[in-house]
This record gives sequence, C-alpha cells and structure tokens, in this order.
Amino acid sequence: DPAIADLVARIQKLKQERGAVILAHNYQVGDVQDVADLVGDSLELARWAATGSAPVILFCGVHFMAETAKILNPSRRVIVPDLDAGCPMADMITPEEVDRLRAEHPGAVVVTYVNSPAAVKAKSDICCTSANAVKIVNSIPESVPVIFIPDQFLGDFVQRQTGRNLILFRGFCPTHMRIMAKDIHQAKEEHPDALVLAHPECQPDVAMIADVVTSTSKMATEVRNFSGQTVIVGTETGMIHRLQKENPGKSFVAACTTCDCANMKVNSLEKILWALEDMAPEIEIPEEIRLPASQALQRMLDIA
Ligand code: 13P
Ligand code: SF4
Repeated sequence: DPAIADLVARIQKLKQERGAVILAHNYQVGDVQDVADLVGDSLELARWAATGSAPVILFCGVHFMAETAKILNPSRRVIVPDLDAGCPMADMITPEEVDRLRAEHPGAVVVTYVNSPAAVKAKSDICCTSANAVKIVNSIPESVPVIFIPDQFLGDFVQRQTGRNLILFRGFCPTHMRIMAKDIHQAKEEHPDALVLAHPECQPDVAMIADVVTSTSKMATEVRNFSGQTVIVGTETGMIHRLQKENPGKSFVAACTTCDCANMKVNSLEKILWALEDMAPEIEIPEEIRLPASQALQRMLDIA
C-alpha cells in the first residue's frame, strides 16, 4: 500500500531527526508493530526503557506502560500516539484503595501488577508483570502476608502456582474476560493436536485447560519451540500478528475472535507521525510519585 509506505518513510525520517526509539507492545495493530524498533511484553518493554540510550521514547501501548518508561527514565522524553489509550484494569485500583488494604492487613507486602497507575505503584512495595509474578511472590518469605493488586485472575493463577493464599483485589481485564472455556473446548475439538496458550489474565477455568499460561512474549517463545502445526491463542488478538510473522508455517486460531483491547488499538501510524512532529502528547509524572514508584519497579527488575 503506497499510502502506508509513505507514512512509514516519513516516520523513519523524523524518528532519526528526533533521536527517538519506537517501542510497541505485542497487542498493537500490525502496522504499528512493523514500524517499531522493539516489540515485546510489559517486562521486556520496561527493561528496554530502563537500559536504552535514545533521548526520546515513543511508546505504543497503553498509558501505564508509557508511565513505566518515564518512571524508569526521568531524563528522557516519553511521548505517546494517543493519551486516551488507557487500561480499564489499571483504572480499577486507586491509591486510596491501597491505603485501605494496608490498614486492613498490617504487615502485609503489597505486590502490584504493572497494569496500574503510577500513583498506585508509588504506594506499593514491589511490582510484577505476568512474566514474573510467580517469581516475585516466591521471593517474599512465606510468613509474610501478600496483598496482590489489581488483577484477581493473575492473583488466582499465582496462588495456584505458589500454593500460597494471597489477599486479592477485584480487578480484571475486560478483554481477557471475553475468552470462555467453552470456546477453547470447541477450538480443541476442531484442532485436537493444537497447543493451547492462555494469558494469566484469563479466567481460572480457561487458564486451567491451557497447555501453557504465560506472558505475551513467552507465548512467542513457546510457539517457536512447538513442533506441531496449530496454536489456539488465548489472549488479545493483536498477538497473532507477531506469531504469524515469526512462524509463517504454523496456523493460529483465536480462542475468541472478539477479544481485542480497544485501547491498544487506538494507536495508528498517523498518530505516531503526529506525535513525532509535535513531540506530544508527553508523559509527565510528579517527582513525589515517580520516586517511590521507581523503587517498586526497580525491586522487580532486580529480582526478575
Ligand atoms: P504482557 O506483559 O504479557 O504483555 O501483558 C500485558 C497486558 O496488558 C495483558 O493484557
Ligand atoms: Fe489492560 Fe486488558 Fe487491554 Fe491489557 S488487554 S491493556 S490488561 S484492558
């Protein structure tokens, strides 16, 4: 498509002039993934943001991910294609809620999934992503109670993996909620030899019938190592773009065809170009929130 080729050329040129690196999450639309310098899961994107050297990070994902990049890199400018790309799960938890949970459970450690606002991370002891949540919880002595926020289903998965009881919150991902165990069973009937992947944000009955429950980038590794032909993908549908691109010989079946995250999909090539032209919208975080939030994130990066 010549219109897309033209947009991509203009983005590449301006990106060089601005000294920007383009980071994209695995759920971004195909065109956005293809123009990015790095495509990954939340943990990889946080790591790259923490170690890269480009003066400008153009972050294509949702708001909390761009915030994480800024928290870890206060000296660099972090811009996004659209400030309205939020995460409904992240918006389910507030700093006041963390205070309330701490007051109810004195002495507990607060483990916060990165899908949360910066102000909530600032009130937390340590962060985790879907790739390292089990490891992070296992790093806390068994005698210490753990408050796990905001995702009840990731929390439930971690409970099953660690054999520990966690103090859970009621948050959830409305996108992953749409994946039903009956849809997986049906896809399995049609493709009996398929590998079934599920994200830990899925409901427990879905996670329990999957062959592998893991983060989006670890799914990509599982698929590379799978010797069979067909994979049933139990996560946001954008993931299939990357899987298909990396594995042209394999077939991918969405566990739920309506499972797109509307927020992830508001970013586009046009908005990337405009963000580079205007150097806006820009993510800014007050230092009194950024500092404690960076400690919770850094503790995670040190362990995982
Ligand atoms: P990953 O860290 O596995 O990429 O997940 C992020 C996310 O928002 C899942 O919905
Ligand atoms: Fe948030 Fe769910 Fe979208 Fe991930 S898929 S960004 S958890 S709403």
